[in-house]
Amino acid sequence: MKYSNLFWSLVFIIGLTACSNKQFDVNDSLKYCHKQVERSLEELKVDTLLPRSIADTATTWKLVNYKDWTSGFWPGILWYDYEFTKDEKIKEKAIKYTELLKPLSENPAYDHDLGFQVFCSYGNAYRLTKNDEYRKLIVRTADTLATLFNPRVGTILSWPRMIKDEGWPHNTIMDNMINLEMLFWASKNGGGQNLYDIAVKHAETTMRNHFRPDYTSYHVVLYDTITGKKIKGMTHQGYSDSSMWARGQSWAIYGFTMCYRETRKPEFLDFAQKVTEPFISKLPEDGIPYWDFNAPKIPNEPKDASAAAVVASALLELSGYIKDPAQAKRYKNIAVKMITSLSSDKYLSGKSKPSFLLHSTGHWPNKSEIDYSINYADYYYIEALTRLKKLNEGKNILE
Ligand code: GLY
Repeated sequence: MKYSNLFWSLVFIIGLTACSNKQFDVNDSLKYCHKQVERSLEELKVDTLLPRSIADTATTWKLVNYKDWTSGFWPGILWYDYEFTKDEKIKEKAIKYTELLKPLSENPAYDHDLGFQVFCSYGNAYRLTKNDEYRKLIVRTADTLATLFNPRVGTILSWPRMIKDEGWPHNTIMDNMINLEMLFWASKNGGGQNLYDIAVKHAETTMRNHFRPDYTSYHVVLYDTITGKKIKGMTHQGYSDSSMWARGQSWAIYGFTMCYRETRKPEFLDFAQKVTEPFISKLPEDGIPYWDFNAPKIPNEPKDASAAAVVASALLELSGYIKDPAQAKRYKNIAVKMITSLSSDKYLSGKSKPSFLLHSTGHWPNKSEIDYSINYADYYYIEALTRLKKLNEGKNILE
């Protein structure tokens, strides 16, 4: 370990100890989220478009339609808020925004993001209402997502448009791991066995091809469409082909944890821990990563609160699968440290904006959404808070 890494690890551990002495009140944070949700609902001029992000210099949401890859997060936030408050007005809005996404279940797949879109919205809607129409819609959408699977490669084609736009062949991105959750779920809830098989094959192929020897992830892997062979690993949203893009690694941690939950295959549990290590061992002192761990101007680089929120939520789940009590506690403590840090004045939007969090980075190479509030940061933050609350109350964090 380099001396600088050792130094930051020590600072991080001291920070952890300090933080565990101070009791974090998860209910206060969920109440804060509710206040921000009410403010957003009040300020939104239309309910036919969905809030996506707020610029560092702005105070109002940029809106998108149901086709946007982030369209599922706002309905998902409303469902988590409804789960906490039991407020019928929030439920009404959650239904309204969720149902805007229905066309996604009726049209051919545009790309792999169907899981983010439909499972964060309808998945939470079904979990909390048991409306059978929602179940059928999720199963239909899982079948649509499955049409992007290439059996020669063993993965889903993440971005069909890149074949035309960039001349890429079959491409798979790390983010795609999250969308397997909808396939697993649909397979257990009226869909075919093929959905489960595709999800397992995608995860196994990704495990083999998408990581460097130190378990840091490529954002994108290109495959020969015909032979199925890997061509190369590269980046799209990270700093470079050899860097660890923070959110990409967060999708890996969350994705392989979820794959273990759904399959109980020990190789996924082992792999989830392996991909977690480079992320948590290199976090800066406040537990919130810079947008890319190898960005050249650290500490003068933008942070990515969204990656922290995704990892905090994943670690709360992962800690529940670990037999070694010391390791389980370590994951949980790191998650609580990250949530506590996100819940500090430095990261909360507070009165300045109606979002929950500041300081996420969307697409640095495209110079878009840098240091913004972004709906997926808020979604995984409220999911992590909800999981922590259930954990504190001795409940199953996923029910
Ligand atoms: N799925 C795209 C992103 O993480 O920015």
